[in-house]
Amino acid sequence: MSSQAVVGSIEAVREAVAKARQRGRSIGLVPTMGALHAGHVSLIRAARHETGFVIVSIFVNPTQFAPAEDLSRYPRPLAQDLAICAQEGVDLVFHPDVEILYPPGFRTFVEIHGLQDLLCGASRPGHFRGVATVVLKLFHIVQPDIAYFGQKDAQQARLLQRMVRDLDVPVQLRICPIVREPDGLALSSRNQYLDPDQRREATALYRALQEGHRLVEGGERDAAAVQRALAERIHTTPGAVLDYAAVVDAETLQPLTRLKGTVLLALAVKFGATRLIDNIQLHVDS
Ligand code: PAJ
Repeated sequence: MSSQAVVGSIEAVREAVAKARQRGRSIGLVPTMGALHAGHVSLIRAARHETGFVIVSIFVNPTQFAPAEDLSRYPRPLAQDLAICAQEGVDLVFHPDVEILYPPGFRTFVEIHGLQDLLCGASRPGHFRGVATVVLKLFHIVQPDIAYFGQKDAQQARLLQRMVRDLDVPVQLRICPIVREPDGLALSSRNQYLDPDQRREATALYRALQEGHRLVEGGERDAAAVQRALAERIHTTPGAVLDYAAVVDAETLQPLTRLKGTVLLALAVKFGATRLIDNIQLHVDS
């Protein structure tokens, strides 16, 4: 990828996509907010494997941040991100200014009622409305055949699957596995906010989820018991403040009483001002 393959306008994206289609290429889209890491790279590689023209969008989307959140300090290492895209053979980077996606007078939003208010939506009001809106805009701008998302943001993935079905968006979604550090911490652009003590303790999320997994493997089917075990592990971790520990149906994200079918164990934990999330999905025999 040369530096000319970074574009900021909707017209330039549409032109590049039209040319790629003329050459018979299928289009893959990887939406990101930049600060790319191995988790993002796994999505880019999946897109490269399956589609002929890979577009990465890099856009720190203001509408998915609440006023008190980290919009202004969110990392924006653009040169490094572009180098990663070049190295991974990305065909086009879409890096628009805020005014391109949100022109003056913008007032149209996508809401996914029910799904947007649970779990992360409960502590981040408006977050998923912003996510759904920007992702639908990216789908309309790029018109990809396939778009790639991470299971790391399980609720985001479910909500976007729902949006695509409900609004008949002609795109396939691929949800790719969580990429972790060797000690189990899920990669996240926000991990760099952690100080060394917090970084060490941050492995508690994955350890809690593994403990939950072991309980279920051992025959536990009471959702409240598994939920308590997750919460307990976080409560005993220095510096960690539990936002939520949830045991829910992986499709509907609704709380379960008895574990059955595909179950999502999900955690959100704060270390100081830094909020981390993680999850695992289990297939449970009744
Ligand atoms: P961002 O946090 O940059 O993540 C972009 C994509 O990378 C998301 O689909 C996310 O689930 C995936 N991802 C992040 N960490 C991962 C990991 N450790 N393993 C696998 N995949 C991982 O999610 C967003 O941006 C935004 O909400 C966005 C969808 C771009 C809309 O603004």
